[in-house]
Amino acid sequence: MDLIQITQEGLEAIKVAETLDALENVRIAYLSKKGSLTQAMSKMKDLPNEEKPLFGKLVNESKQALETALQEKQALLKEIKLNEDMKNDAIDVTLPGVKLTSGVQNPLIMIQREMEDLFREMGYSVVEGDEVELDLYNFERANIPQDHPAREMQDTFYIDEHTLLRTHTTAIQTRALEQFAPSVPVKVICPGKVYRRDDDDATHSHQFVQMEGLVVGHGITLSDLKGTLLLFAQRMFGEKRNIRFRPSYFQFTEPSVEIDVSCHVCDGKGCNICKDTGWIEILGGGMVHPFVLESAGYTDKSLTGFAFGIGVERITMLKYGVEDIRSFYTNDKQFINQFKRFE
Ligand code: DAH
Repeated sequence: MDLIQITQEGLEAIKVAETLDALENVRIAYLSKKGSLTQAMSKMKDLPNEEKPLFGKLVNESKQALETALQEKQALLKEIKLNEDMKNDAIDVTLPGVKLTSGVQNPLIMIQREMEDLFREMGYSVVEGDEVELDLYNFERANIPQDHPAREMQDTFYIDEHTLLRTHTTAIQTRALEQFAPSVPVKVICPGKVYRRDDDDATHSHQFVQMEGLVVGHGITLSDLKGTLLLFAQRMFGEKRNIRFRPSYFQFTEPSVEIDVSCHVCDGKGCNICKDTGWIEILGGGMVHPFVLESAGYTDKSLTGFAFGIGVERITMLKYGVEDIRSFYTNDKQFINQFKRFE
């Protein structure tokens, strides 16, 4: 077979090869060691010397023609294959995606964090305590002695004679004071769960969240408490809010006050939320009772302090119009998901 014939056959085989595999077989058949072109080249040594240059030239041209054709066909077949693969593996970008569901923070946690942030900005530190507490810190140090009727107001889960589930975060306050004494200033908030032997209904829960505030130092007055709580009320319920103090009674503060905020629903004009009074009670507070300071270890009688106790559920219910306190604890997704937009 002469070179021209081999070359033409090879070019034809390349032309008709439909796959990369078939093309590879053509390359092997013509250009590998045992391929027909390579074989033909090996005949050069048998030729008379004067024919060798011409033959060599022809061989090179044939080889180059085949290699070029192979390369071009290979590129073409690769492109065809790629297009086919793309067609087969095609991703339909119009298909709806798999929805990733994300959790939502419980609104109580949301509000607790919001409150913590607000007080941190004002220079408070956050102090926590144990839910299982000694009678000593929950009652005695809060100026609620044994057999005092106030103990009944806070129906208690007792674990044994001296141990109980804390009924209020005032227990964290009395512990914090003991730890700080005799140094000042003390400026802390104490968030946490508290427990009462209440029957659960729309406004009562045997477990709820409180946040205690406590500031002790030189020259602390009731007006400091007022300024602090005005800022708190405005941050939680809007810039236009005002607050008022009403006299009240707590064992651990003297004087004691109940704090109302002007109604954020009707702007104080009167509605069913504020029971037509224009005011909503939001928390209790007062000046820390001297007994509380003394029994914690503060002997300097010139020191004063204020304290307040906030019900986190109450604030959250008012802010978001939640009507049943139990909604916070039942993990009802429909309820919880409503708070996505507030995150
Ligand atoms: N401990 C009170 C309660 O559970 C709340 C409270 C009122 C805390 C007045 C205070 C305070 O620190 O000054 O109802």
